[in-house]
Amino acid sequence: MNESGPNTVEETEPVATEEIALDTATGPVERARTGLQTAFGDGSADAPAPLVAIAPGRVNLVGGHTDYNDGLCLPLAVDRHVAVAARPRDDDLIRVVATDFGETATFTPDDDPDGWVAYVAAVARVLREDTDILGADLAIASDVPSGAGLSSSAAIELAVGRALLGIAGVEIPTTDLALACWRAEREGVGVECGILDQFAVGLCKPDSALFLDCRTREFEQVHISGDVGILVVETGVSHELADSGYNDRVRECEEAVATLRDRGVDIDSLRDVDTDLLEAHTGALSDVLSQRARHVVTENERVWEAREALSTGDFDRVGEAMVASHRSLRDDYEVSCPELDAAVELATGTDGVYGARMTGGGFGGSAVALVDGDALERAETTIRSAVAEQVGEDAQVFACRPSGGVRLVTTE
Ligand code: GLA
Repeated sequence: MNESGPNTVEETEPVATEEIALDTATGPVERARTGLQTAFGDGSADAPAPLVAIAPGRVNLVGGHTDYNDGLCLPLAVDRHVAVAARPRDDDLIRVVATDFGETATFTPDDDPDGWVAYVAAVARVLREDTDILGADLAIASDVPSGAGLSSSAAIELAVGRALLGIAGVEIPTTDLALACWRAEREGVGVECGILDQFAVGLCKPDSALFLDCRTREFEQVHISGDVGILVVETGVSHELADSGYNDRVRECEEAVATLRDRGVDIDSLRDVDTDLLEAHTGALSDVLSQRARHVVTENERVWEAREALSTGDFDRVGEAMVASHRSLRDDYEVSCPELDAAVELATGTDGVYGARMTGGGFGGSAVALVDGDALERAETTIRSAVAEQVGEDAQVFACRPSGGVRLVTTE
């Protein structure tokens, strides 16, 4: 996929080697450390110092709703993190405190807790199938807004998984951790999501976007050369994947594939469909299924286009792909909402913005904008001053940098 060849699961570095000093996540890291001590004390006299793992939120530049169709996407990690401080226990209990809202839970490997604890328990359960992870005391703190379409749940999963592996001294490749967390999300939380979020949160690198082929699970770091910034516009409309039409869209795509296969078309997923094939079978699909398929087919084309443009610093072209992606998600895939459309309109009408689109599952959440680096501050101020009126009272905007994926933190 690039000059040095594709990154495959086998070639991936084991996660435990990624100990990187970090100064950008001091807030959640410190809160997690303090939260662990406050909730559970110092631990036994011979207890090791707590370990801290962090995992970022993500935005997706192009490639919406392609991942569960074996397709392509182009996410990057933002410099907002979930931090998990962890200490091993002598038994198999997991005690966990969510420091940001002061809730504590305790569960055994046999328990099946609800709510936010379900993410923690699901990751522990999946990891326990193949590794000897221990019981643990955990404290979680975050500055990734939740329900904002920025993958806060994948960030919790990856940070918890990384912390549990770390205290047990177990090393597995980051791709395996991402896949374990993906299974945890699907089995533990019931969202039929693809691998986008967990791979982005696990594998992104600073100053790069991740070109991800969800069929082969190969990926490539696309270095972002040139001075560009990222703005996130949170609509303030909470998006809950499990409650939204997300699983309906998964069904509709499966139905489109089944219908085409019934007509003798030899495909496994919408990844195998191109515009010509779709046109040749106009009439076989209902209007709704045609729209869904058209989005996925054209969105994969836009990811190829944006990846090429990003790597050559042609940000105008990336922006065009983002705007076309938003239109397709709004009109053909029907996963946008008025607030997201308003956020995209506001951003794209602002000087210095190359393009914008909704990111994440949709039905609320956030929009992402690609902005000329020189104009970033001005664009942020302009959008901030208009966002409450044009998008919604709870809407917010923040700038972020393309950052690295899950890792351990050394802050001494
Ligand atoms: C959510 C899901 C992902 C992906 C996106 C849409 O974030 O978790 O798997 O489908 O929506 O691209």
